[in-house]
Amino acid sequence: MPSPSNSDELIFFVNGRKVIEKNADPEVNLLFYVRKVHILVFRCTKYGCGGGGCGACTVMVSRYNPKTKKIHHYPVTACLVPICSLYGAAVTTVEGVGSIKTRIHPVQERLAKCHGTQCGFCSPGMVMSIYTLLRNHPEPTPEQIMEALGGNLCRCTGYRPIIESGKTFCESSVCQLKGSGKCCMDQDEQALENRQEKICTKLYDEDEFQPLDPSQEPIFPPELIRMAEDPNKRRLTFQGERTTWITPVTLDDLLELKANFPKAPLVMGNTTVGPAIKFKDEFHPIFISPLGLPELYFVTTTDDGVTIGAGYSLAQLNDALQIIVSEQPKEKTKTFRALLKQLRTLAGAQIRNMATLGGHVASQPHFSDLNPILAAGNATINLISKEGERQIPLNGPFLERAPEANLKSEEIVLSIFIPYSTQWHFVSGLRLAQRQENAFAIVNAGMSVKFEDNTNTVRELQMFFGSVGPTVLSASQTCRRLVGRQWDDEMLSDACQWVLDEIHIPPAAEGGMVTYRRTLIISLLFKFYLKVRQGLNKMDPQKFPDIPEKFLSALEDFPIETPQGIQMFQCVDPHQSPQDPVGHPVMHQSAIKHATGEAIFCDDMPRLDQELFLAVVTSTRAHAKIISIDTSEALSLPGVADVITAEDVPGDNNHHGEIFYAQNEVICVGQIVCTVAADTYAHAKEAAKKVKITYEDIEPRIITIEQALEHNSFLFSEKKIEQGDVEHAFKYVDQIIEGEVHVEGQEHFYMETQTILAIPKAEDKEMVLHLGTQFPTHVQEYVAAALSVPRSRIACHMKRAGGAFGGKVTKPALLGAISAVAANKTGCPIRFILERGDDMLITAGRHPLLGKYKIGFMNNGVIKAVDVKYYINGGCTPDESEMVLEFIVLKSENAYDIPNFRCQGRVCKTNLPSNTAFRGFGFPQATVVVEAYINAVASQCNLLPEEVKEINLYKRTSKTAYKQTFNPEPLRKCWKDCLEKSSFYARKQAAEEFNQKNYWKKRGLSVVPMKYTIGIPIAYYSQAAALVHIYLDGSVLLIHGGCELGQGLNTKMIQVASRELNIPPSHIHLSETSTITVPNAVFTAGSMGTDINGKAVQNACQILMARLQPIIRKNPKGKWEEWIAQAFEESISLSATGYFKGYQTNMDWEKEEGNAFPYFVYGASCSEVEIDCLTGAHKLLRTDIFMDAAFSINPALDIGQVEGAFIQGMGFYTIEELKYSPEGVLHSRGPDDYKIPTVTEIPEEFYVTFVHSQNPIAIYSSKGLGEAGMFLGSSVLFAIYDAVTAARRERGLSKTFAISSPATPELIRMTCVDQFTDMVPRDDPSTFTPWSIRVS
Ligand SMILES: Cc1cc2nc3c(=O)[nH]c(=O)nc-3n(C[C@H](O)[C@H](O)[C@H](O)COP(=O)(O)OP(=O)(O)OC[C@H]3O[C@@H](n4cnc5c(N)ncnc54)[C@H](O)[C@@H]3O)c2cc1C
Ligand code: FES
Ligand code: FES
Repeated sequence: MPSPSNSDELIFFVNGRKVIEKNADPEVNLLFYVRKVHILVFRCTKYGCGGGGCGACTVMVSRYNPKTKKIHHYPVTACLVPICSLYGAAVTTVEGVGSIKTRIHPVQERLAKCHGTQCGFCSPGMVMSIYTLLRNHPEPTPEQIMEALGGNLCRCTGYRPIIESGKTFCESSVCQLKGSGKCCMDQDEQALENRQEKICTKLYDEDEFQPLDPSQEPIFPPELIRMAEDPNKRRLTFQGERTTWITPVTLDDLLELKANFPKAPLVMGNTTVGPAIKFKDEFHPIFISPLGLPELYFVTTTDDGVTIGAGYSLAQLNDALQIIVSEQPKEKTKTFRALLKQLRTLAGAQIRNMATLGGHVASQPHFSDLNPILAAGNATINLISKEGERQIPLNGPFLERAPEANLKSEEIVLSIFIPYSTQWHFVSGLRLAQRQENAFAIVNAGMSVKFEDNTNTVRELQMFFGSVGPTVLSASQTCRRLVGRQWDDEMLSDACQWVLDEIHIPPAAEGGMVTYRRTLIISLLFKFYLKVRQGLNKMDPQKFPDIPEKFLSALEDFPIETPQGIQMFQCVDPHQSPQDPVGHPVMHQSAIKHATGEAIFCDDMPRLDQELFLAVVTSTRAHAKIISIDTSEALSLPGVADVITAEDVPGDNNHHGEIFYAQNEVICVGQIVCTVAADTYAHAKEAAKKVKITYEDIEPRIITIEQALEHNSFLFSEKKIEQGDVEHAFKYVDQIIEGEVHVEGQEHFYMETQTILAIPKAEDKEMVLHLGTQFPTHVQEYVAAALSVPRSRIACHMKRAGGAFGGKVTKPALLGAISAVAANKTGCPIRFILERGDDMLITAGRHPLLGKYKIGFMNNGVIKAVDVKYYINGGCTPDESEMVLEFIVLKSENAYDIPNFRCQGRVCKTNLPSNTAFRGFGFPQATVVVEAYINAVASQCNLLPEEVKEINLYKRTSKTAYKQTFNPEPLRKCWKDCLEKSSFYARKQAAEEFNQKNYWKKRGLSVVPMKYTIGIPIAYYSQAAALVHIYLDGSVLLIHGGCELGQGLNTKMIQVASRELNIPPSHIHLSETSTITVPNAVFTAGSMGTDINGKAVQNACQILMARLQPIIRKNPKGKWEEWIAQAFEESISLSATGYFKGYQTNMDWEKEEGNAFPYFVYGASCSEVEIDCLTGAHKLLRTDIFMDAAFSINPALDIGQVEGAFIQGMGFYTIEELKYSPEGVLHSRGPDDYKIPTVTEIPEEFYVTFVHSQNPIAIYSSKGLGEAGMFLGSSVLFAIYDAVTAARRERGLSKTFAISSPATPELIRMTCVDQFTDMVPRDDPSTFTPWSIRVS
């Protein structure tokens, strides 16, 4: 092993500055380095997952190629880039692109001005992805923008404005209104004037944008060019704390090293090695990195095929293949085209630019998208070692890791040879993933067939399947048996049977979805079969009949289109003062800072003296007694300051049923048992792994709702609402149906994980906490309880949170208490940043729900009686579950007027982490049950669901089931407009025609109406306070008790203060929220933020204006500053507290009635989808949303909320799937296995219209729109069901079938029953334990 004295200097550039790292540690990645280690500390790049899956950490790497003399710019995820791999590279982080201090870049400006930032946590990554694209293509196409953003997740915006900001750089950046050919931006807004009010569509002004001037970009450091061209390069060695990194500079040197250190990985893109170290605890003392070694980078073509160097990144591979495909005849490039298809969706742009062909082939991943195609295309691997060169086939035995067919440990992959395809030869790549792009395949395949010339007789057949076992598997026996057979239906039938026998997925296989995966194997085979038949027909139409026209659509995957759409909202009154910003689409107050990365999040705060990092040790058992906790080894490790357990909590360790540190027993997997405090997070984490806990399981272990019902395990009492006489009504109805609906949970996946900085003060047991929370008062309460000090000693500060969605209402209090106890014990500041996996495990999310209904209705679709019971999986402690249940019971009637209605609900106590608040608070789950029974009624009555909805919708001023009066006029308007403007009935007809013509693809549409309520039934929970100080220069400091979570609350508060004080927004500053300035503030949730804080701000401003009035009257033409100076001279106080008492809501659960909510928000949405019946994939073609916004204070922010919530809802109802083991272990703990929507999931056409109504009770007659859009996402779910129904109808299956959520590809495929699903063997459930189970 090399000695430390051999360590070389690592030289690279960051943002134009030279970095010389004398002690480069191979274990340090670029993200950590720029954020924490590098002296300049570039903290603007964010951490979101640490595994390359979210794009928050995107930066640009530029390298000079001495051979081509070109500079290559490419995006990378900094969390997967070891700093040692950067020798000679120039790194550009978002700080290097632009900043407020210097000059903002057009990419940053446009992202901000197009309203492409909400919480801003993803924004630096988005900027870097677009910026890097522009460095290579200053005038990109919209498709390139989509491709560039595919690896970046955003949980807030719904992507539309981000894509739009990118599209402003495209040559034809304007959207063309489908059909009309006219640009929406150019539309004369007068033309959109409808009956009473003018409609606006312009959310930003393109004329304000600075032009992009590529000549202004920083130059590549000349020193790096000199270094790259230096002929005397030598091997580099970097010696870290535990590991050594060696970069050879010649091939011989590399082979020598590989011979000496055969076990050392070759680090190329680090996209396999890096995640394995981080998530699988792999350790390598030595890394060899030949990244950039010229011998590994080349493309050569011969008469037989193409050889591609192993060092080529997948992006370079893509470019090389594109060129070859464009130059060579089609029949020679079938393998290349199959590879190109997979490359478009494999991971995101960053990973494709990092991962190498050699790394991909050599690591033989079981999910590989490329290896099955390479194998099917008869590729060979060119290997080299000190012993010499040899070729091995990239075939089944290699992929199945047969020792005799594999690389020897001293060998490296030099290149891959991919032969040309031939005339009677077909090659295809097929895949299905939970999400179209940036998601590992659920099953993929590479298949090829060669025929005897001019026949359809199989000469050679190859089939390889990925994600079906521990390696890619070859169906070699099946293929052999089929040689000599005709390519016909009989052959297909045998092939399916035999392949199912050969590729056996055991019933308890890791990854679950066993029946579905088996079905996919033969469904993909069927697709290949059809494709080949079509190909044969093209070659000789006389001999080989074409496939039925109805089957044609089975062949194509859904294309990735660039979305387009229009947003329509009210224009402000032309008489309104031009200075008054209320009603205008004002940019988020921090948008520019988001885009430059200068907006400070909690972990961006500089390191404090003596600061310690905290790592958690969590329970691995769902219900068990703690027998012992052995911390001795952990305590002995370097850097460890202390281990903190329940014993160290000076006060309450169990506050209102929430346990901070587990004591004596654990009640869920993921419960915090102890924490380790150390000088670095790496040390703390390493030590946490060494804490030994012994458990003894306790019965019962309750994981699912069904198990809770069996054990009568509940939290809180039942909640019930009843109106009319349900039992009586059932006697007089035409029909009664009963059913059950399961709705699974959801992970918040806020981009900023929970982060806390707890600082103990030297005096009076004071403690200061900085954190991203929706409820600082709650944190203060819990910390005070844990430390047993008065609340006045605890100060909680929150500047902003990187998304919250309900997940930061209660959990920060628990985690705050955990950190405060550690800070108290160690006496040091504690930084507690949850890793993504821990965050998902510990903090839980939306409640899974089971609904059981009985519905009585007439044959004409009128529903007379509903009896519905809801059960939610609350998890192991109370948290917010009672309130969630109350909301479910109160809100679940939704928009339907049911005269006899009974709704009951219970919270199930289980051994899962405690579920908590989540946007919509139960409504999005419960209304799935409602829409499901409406669908069931429609099916029984032979009506469209929309007709049944129309019949049962509230029509006139009415009372809810809990007897609150309301006028549903805006609901009727949204519903009517939605049906009309979306041309629902015409499109429904068109979809039916499409469905008649297409057997394997079906279209479906659905319109859902919504009656949503904001606020909560407890009046004191809607009180709010604000503090306004006017300083003597006229500047104003505005403080309120609400939290800025990305929703733009602070921006709206400035708009309110600006109107009330009649001064420009630029005079008003808003700094942070804290328990010091506004005590006892309620949570920022329930869509009430603007409502209640706005009233408090208004009140404070009005108090001040009343004080100023005499002065203004005396000097009406005076300036603001003059009035303020005068007021001071007259000893008038220039500071005021504003207060809003709250909405006078109430609910009497005994009487089952109340004025529970201040007002209602109405809406409707129509979605159209297309499903692939063979794979279960779906494509959202179009969505129209009509939302009753009353008068929007800021249409840009409100549309952002509606769109963002809709996309989050759509994710919830379709692709987001939490997987729990039967033992209660959460499998899905990161972006790799939990899929939130990306740019490819959003509607191809997306129209949002704000419907004007009156709402005098709220500030400026506005409405709270933070949550309402979430439920509208269910229009996608029900559109999918409509499409599935069409498929089932055609196959002669019953119209009704159990509806559940999410409608994942698995569910869609398995519900579209056909000959393939029938063919798949089913396992007897009593013979195995499944990998995952449903917990609803
Ligand atoms: C977020 C994310 C998403 C992904 N999504 C997908 C996806 O959708 N589909 C898919 O197929 N893959 C996906 N991948 C996997 C990705 O394709 C592979 O990780 C990648 O191709 C490996 O290449 P690398 O250069 O990064 O390998 P490295 O991590 O650098 O090395 C991997 C292994 O290969 C060995 N190796 C590397 N080069 C050579 C060589 N020349 N000779 C011999 N051995 C060598 C190393 O020793 C090491 O053991 C994803 C990865 C990530 C991180
Ligand atoms: S933090 Fe690097 S990709 Fe998520
Ligand atoms: S703005 Fe994208 S994650 Fe919040």
